[in-house]
Amino acid sequence: MAQLQQHYPWTQTPLIVSAPMRTVSGAALTAAVSNAGGLGFFGAGYSLSDSAVLSDLSTLPTRLSPGASYGLGFLVFRSDLRDALSLTTLHRPAAVWFFAPADAAQLHEWLCAFRALDTRVWVQVSSVREAEQVLCGQGGGVVSVLVAQGAADAGGHGKVCGGSVIALVPEVVDLLAEKGRTDVAVVAAGGVVDGRGVAAVLALGAGAAVLGTRFVACEESEASRGFRELVVGSADGGVGTVRTRLYDNLRGTGFWPAEYGGRAIINESFRDAEKGVAEDKNAELYAQAVTRNDFTRLTAFAGTGVGLVKEVLPAASIVENLRTQAREVLRQQAVELGLL
Ligand SMILES: Cc1cc2nc3c(=O)[nH]c(=O)nc-3n(C[C@H](O)[C@H](O)[C@H](O)COP(=O)(O)O)c2cc1C
Repeated sequence: MAQLQQHYPWTQTPLIVSAPMRTVSGAALTAAVSNAGGLGFFGAGYSLSDSAVLSDLSTLPTRLSPGASYGLGFLVFRSDLRDALSLTTLHRPAAVWFFAPADAAQLHEWLCAFRALDTRVWVQVSSVREAEQVLCGQGGGVVSVLVAQGAADAGGHGKVCGGSVIALVPEVVDLLAEKGRTDVAVVAAGGVVDGRGVAAVLALGAGAAVLGTRFVACEESEASRGFRELVVGSADGGVGTVRTRLYDNLRGTGFWPAEYGGRAIINESFRDAEKGVAEDKNAELYAQAVTRNDFTRLTAFAGTGVGLVKEVLPAASIVENLRTQAREVLRQQAVELGLL
């Protein structure tokens, strides 16, 4: 925790991080989280030459409070390394976040290329084996933070096979200790929505909590109104969401590497597929739903914690509430255990 505080000196503890969600985490959300003492990640994804994304990104310096900075998230498998390097050199974010490389060789190429830059490198992984490959492979010395993503809960894309942060975070923490990598912090992503979740991941050994789904439903999010309303109106995400490749196939993003699926709210598209509706027919219905902005069929990426999202709030309030509630939960536990 102390290490993250040192690297990101404008932040407050416990550190709250907003995930780099492509098409959701634009400059407004990123700046609002960082200005509230968290660390906001801008979701550049694979849109590294999209003029709207680049122009939004370029507004960040004017939105940020003095001394605050932000992170920049890349979806590696579909991004051009030269574009990522030049964006990072130009904007000098405090951190970059790599997710979903096509293979180990691509990740190592990226890690080695970023060695020369003074931006800290975060890599999102969803198993202990993946964490070990990242650390021990070429360029592993560059890694500053491992984002342990519990794919069993996390909203959006993640490995089709993966557990939750409850076991993943401590095992990755132990791995780092075994390898003597005291320079690497672990942060937890997946299923954290309120201060209780933040307190829990701190107890597991995480230095910070990363939230995606909670920030979809904030005032500064780029998510459409229908998407946000669906998130706020959903409950019981363990059965109300599913990780599947179906949604990517329907929305034309089936190019994701085979081991990834997107966790999203179960909807009519999914139910039709279960009933045996052919994928081309389902895609046709999806395309019609796009024209109506009809979220009974459209994909709403969200995690199993979706039921804990009760209202759309300003991002700063979310960050402050998370910190206050986490501290209170930890204090209360200490009192109950007779430690205070
Ligand atoms: C709508 C949405 C979009 C996402 N897009 C990205 C992305 O572009 N890049 C990325 O690294 N992770 C992305 N993620 C995954 C997050 O990084 C994070 O692992 C996840 O949101 C954590 O779980 P939670 O949603 O339960 O908080 C996305 C998540 C959501 C909900």
